[in-house]
Amino acid sequence: MEKEQERKNIIESLEKELKVIKTKNDLANLKALYLGKNGIVTNLSLKMKDIPNEEKREYGKFLNEIKDEVSLKLETLLKEIERKELEEKLASEKIDITLPSKKIKKGSLHPMTRIQNEFEDIFVSMGYTVYDGPEIESDKNCFQKLNIPKGHPARDAQDTFYLKDEYENFLIRSQTSTAQVRAMEENKEKGPIRIVCPGKVYRRDEDATHSHQFMQIEGLVIDENVSMADLKGTLELFCKKILGEKTNVRFRPSYFPFTEPSVEVDVTCFKCGGKGCSLCKQTGWIEVLGAGMVHPNVLEMSGYDSKKYQGFAFGTGMDRFAMFKYGIPDIRTIYGNDIRFLNQFDRKDGE
Ligand code: DAH
Repeated sequence: MEKEQERKNIIESLEKELKVIKTKNDLANLKALYLGKNGIVTNLSLKMKDIPNEEKREYGKFLNEIKDEVSLKLETLLKEIERKELEEKLASEKIDITLPSKKIKKGSLHPMTRIQNEFEDIFVSMGYTVYDGPEIESDKNCFQKLNIPKGHPARDAQDTFYLKDEYENFLIRSQTSTAQVRAMEENKEKGPIRIVCPGKVYRRDEDATHSHQFMQIEGLVIDENVSMADLKGTLELFCKKILGEKTNVRFRPSYFPFTEPSVEVDVTCFKCGGKGCSLCKQTGWIEVLGAGMVHPNVLEMSGYDSKKYQGFAFGTGMDRFAMFKYGIPDIRTIYGNDIRFLNQFDRKDGE
């Protein structure tokens, strides 16, 4: 009976303490208090020496029972605490799939890349290939072989960024027309040429509509029986494709050293539709391209028989088209790399 009372006391006090335990750590301390080296249950065995021999067996059994009971209770609470901890963890890590997601920041094409793609798509659809030329060019390719010898006044506007010392006959190209020379010399009458060459060019210019670096695109077609009619038809189609079907196109006689005859191409003003405004200086027209039939001298200098072959060429600044199409008032912003400017072209045209 005495033993029974003892058991009851221990279990009751254990249960009382278990009720307030919340953490595994506290539970471990409690376990030490009961089952540790000097624990309450452990110390019961010290009494064994005072127990008469015939009762020792009985007492041993009692000790084991109480140990098992205490262990079971501690173990049960441990499991309970672990279950709660897991539940809390799962609840805190719960993902609400109905929440709107964070917007993924995507880059967008630079306005010049976009306009270049538009140019290339149109010309590729007409059977042209895209031709690439270097930005550092010889004086020969940039001027002489385009019928602009040393001292020619046509150089004035473009005579700018030359290299130094032994490279003084080289410059960063001032026009993509250099592609004409390169394409002809590479091809050497091995059939027709139909190329466009987009790329950067450099001149000593700097104001709202001129930058020291800008982008041109050059076109060259060489074949037998090419006429001014082909040039007109091609450029008319191109202007309508890039600026809209309503665009009217007119050709004015002009002068370029590498073409004869030469023309300048005007289109209906994008802003006023031809009525006259400040952009077109009340004329209703805007000049967009230079063009002409390839000069026989240019053909001959690059190894083409000008009796057999003719060609037409054209060139334009792609920046101007980007400015008109995308409403960019100052060309310098195109090259300023200001993220606030570039962000305005984010995801346009349903991209
Ligand atoms: N290269 C000329 C310029 O930079 C543009 C040009 C005019 C190119 C007439 C041509 C052309 O091919 O035929 O001003």
